[in-house]
Amino acid sequence: MSGRLIKKRENLKNMTKVSKTIYPKCLFSKKAKATYISHDGYIRPCCYVHRHNKTEVDEPWLLNDEHNIASGKSLSEMFSTPEYTDFFDRLRTGKDIPERCYEVCGKVQTNVGADHRKEKIVENKPRWVETVTQSYDDNYKVQKKLQVDLTHRCSLGCPKCMRFETNWTEPTTKKKYKFANHAIKKSELSISDFKKIFEENPHMGKGDVDFCGTWGDAIYHPDFIEICKIIKNAGAHINIATNGSRKRAEWWDELYNILDPINDSIVFAMDGLKDTADMYRKFIIYDDVITAMTKGVDAGFIKSRWSFIVFRFNQHQVEEAKQLAKNIGITFELVKSHRWDGPNDPYMPTKEWLPQSIIKEYNL
Ligand SMILES: C[S@@+](CC[C@H](N)C(=O)[O-])C[C@H]1O[C@@H](n2cnc3c(N)ncnc32)[C@H](O)[C@@H]1O
Ligand code: SF4
Ligand code: SF4
Repeated sequence: MSGRLIKKRENLKNMTKVSKTIYPKCLFSKKAKATYISHDGYIRPCCYVHRHNKTEVDEPWLLNDEHNIASGKSLSEMFSTPEYTDFFDRLRTGKDIPERCYEVCGKVQTNVGADHRKEKIVENKPRWVETVTQSYDDNYKVQKKLQVDLTHRCSLGCPKCMRFETNWTEPTTKKKYKFANHAIKKSELSISDFKKIFEENPHMGKGDVDFCGTWGDAIYHPDFIEICKIIKNAGAHINIATNGSRKRAEWWDELYNILDPINDSIVFAMDGLKDTADMYRKFIIYDDVITAMTKGVDAGFIKSRWSFIVFRFNQHQVEEAKQLAKNIGITFELVKSHRWDGPNDPYMPTKEWLPQSIIKEYNL
């Protein structure tokens, strides 16, 4: 390759990098973002740098085998490679950082971080708290909090989920897929991965494991209950975000038996009542979710929530859903989504149910 071509490629590669001051949440000395693991075993300093996003184009080394749990290395060994060391140095100096990091961490942060995608209101109170002064760690610490995209599986078809982005181009290979989930590797983390993580990181026993999911829904991992047992034996708390469908009542009994009702939680994502719940959450089973919520309340789970995204088709049911949540005994969380295909999106609710940023962006 000629020198000019190499230079051109180098320039292209750097085009999406920026040099700007950021406030990297992954290096906060207190309340840093959780360490993140993808369903196919890659480790990351936060869930914003998840699998198959543009940061992997800016930082191709993220996909080296040595940053995958299958390498046999411990999490701290993987975060200490020359590539990760350089990455954290760049975050601290704000030089040649991925644009994604600037998007996420380029503004003064609150002490819990800002969620740029949606606004949440729990029991009539916004979820975020005021800004506090932050200090930073010199080296990345494997956090006691872990976020995991446990599996590639999900039984639903929510059209705005990343799984169902259409005519999707995989960022690193540039290959086109009819639906984004066709590009996901059909692999998932194993029971032994969790054994190893907790043996090597005893401090994680004092933290939380969040099964939040980027590409899938954790409850469909065939060994989900076994994995939860390992985490509970290690002492950590568990938070699960799920659509709550297609699991038998006995399965929920078994799960609730393992979990701790005071410290663990389940967020049930269901956007509507019996007649509307499947309009966005395609194939959700309303009765399964109600059973799972009710069983949780009966078992004394005080932190679980019903998370309800407001759409045009369910906005008239918000009050009724709140009342139903009250009757069941579960906290109701209203979500004002940012995910719309422009101002004429037929799913979009009226202005009062939209976040301020969308009202501004679409000039509503
Ligand atoms: C990929 S899901 C994984 C967890 C689980 N399967 C679920 O749906 O909650 C991750 C998050 O995306 C959210 N989500 C899905 N569709 C959304 C939308 N249109 N607007 C905002 N958030 C959305 C879900 O509610 C969930 O919090
Ligand atoms: S987006 Fe980048 S800077 Fe921000 S927490 Fe994640 S890795 Fe760190
Ligand atoms: S339930 Fe969650 S993971 Fe499954 S399709 Fe819907 S948003 Fe995506």
